[in-house]
Amino acid sequence: MSGTGRKLRMGMIGIGVGGAEILPAMDGSSEIDLVAGADIVPATRAVFAERYPKARVYDSAEALCKDPEVDAVWISTPNRWHAPHAILAAQHGKHIVLEKPMALSMEEARQVVAATDAAKVHLMAGHTQAYTHPIRAMRRIIASGRLGKLCALHLWTYSDWMLRPRTPDELDERQGGGVPYRQTPHQIDTVRLLGGGMLRSVRGTTGNWHPERPAPGYYTAYMEFEDGTPCTIMHNGYGYFVTEELVPWSRGYIRYPADERVEVRKQLLAGTREEEVDKQAMRIGGKDEKRIFGELFGKQAWSPFDLGLVVASCEHGDMRHSKMGLFIYDNDGVHEVDLNATGGVEQRRAELTEIYEAVVLGKPLFHDGRWGMATLEAGLAIMQSGRERREIALQHQVAVPADYDADLEVPYL
Ligand SMILES: NC(=O)c1ccc[n+]([C@@H]2O[C@H](COP(=O)([O-])OP(=O)(O)OC[C@H]3O[C@@H](n4cnc5c(N)ncnc54)[C@H](O)[C@@H]3O)[C@@H](O)[C@H]2O)c1
Repeated sequence: MSGTGRKLRMGMIGIGVGGAEILPAMDGSSEIDLVAGADIVPATRAVFAERYPKARVYDSAEALCKDPEVDAVWISTPNRWHAPHAILAAQHGKHIVLEKPMALSMEEARQVVAATDAAKVHLMAGHTQAYTHPIRAMRRIIASGRLGKLCALHLWTYSDWMLRPRTPDELDERQGGGVPYRQTPHQIDTVRLLGGGMLRSVRGTTGNWHPERPAPGYYTAYMEFEDGTPCTIMHNGYGYFVTEELVPWSRGYIRYPADERVEVRKQLLAGTREEEVDKQAMRIGGKDEKRIFGELFGKQAWSPFDLGLVVASCEHGDMRHSKMGLFIYDNDGVHEVDLNATGGVEQRRAELTEIYEAVVLGKPLFHDGRWGMATLEAGLAIMQSGRERREIALQHQVAVPADYDADLEVPYL
């Protein structure tokens, strides 16, 4: 690493909606220098070049990976490309942040880990909601024992995921499409962080309810940790009821207000939706980019969004999100803990900080390939359990290190 001081020189591969979501966190970061971007769509490359005039722009992942001035890549291409692009990047000696899901199968994930091990590069299986400040604070409170032992976890989401504009591969389960592939990483990373990492078994199922959206829009699972702690997760992406409606301070919807959801559904049923146009509008330079990501970034009240309602029950109390932090219910009543920096760019920067500290400062990387494989294993087990209608035992789980986030300050503690 040279030429840019202590900053990590990052290249983004796949500058789509997921890419646009992390760009504001990279902008102005003292740790990351976005020096390159690659995408197969010329219009996207043109907007990227205009916005980042100092960055180099490539029309393929391979060309970017050959750039010797790139230290690490942020891979946010469609799911089917995650493993091939990660292996390619490792072969070129790049450190990697890989969007969720890290791969489509355990075999692919094993190949990714083998390639990064062989190349001695860091792999971070990243960009999940487990990085957010309230979840990490919950983890610290559980680990501290202040509320006694963790007894149960429940995460429930009702979203409009299936109504958002989708490319054909996003609706093809064989290519990693649908809610289970896309959303289990958020919830499973979160429950594994809160519960200590070691899931034991999964009984779950998926639901594919709308022929006009031919990928599963629903999953549910009952999971147990090695120590017997029970957990349920659920995501219904069909957008009739959305969890946001339960939150007094939220605007009550995620991407579309209720009347727009009705309209979108009618268009989907009639086959009149201009999906590609709508999707491009959310990508870099699109008319909806700022509207959507402007709302996601900046200091903001918490809302369930795609992670949903999270309730952690311990022997002596419960925890859930509050507007700016956590509600903690204990034997003395309810405490609202203001975490202040919860929303926005700062919490997304936590991911950038983790890869920066690993590569530049030599610190341990927590969300590594083995952590990502364990999360993927549990997500795939939900799908398998649904097909086979039986409980699936897990074999690739890894524990949260005892000192993870040890220096995170939580006012309640
Ligand atoms: N972590 C999150 O919260 C979050 C949010 C949104 C998306 N994502 C992830 O981002 C990924 C992409 O989803 P999206 O909604 O951004 O889709 P998208 O289609 O908007 O983005 C994919 C981008 O990759 C480009 N691309 C496709 N094939 C390529 C190739 N071979 N080489 C280079 N570029 C290529 C596309 O042109 C597009 O710009 C998915 O894996 C998804 O899980 C994550």
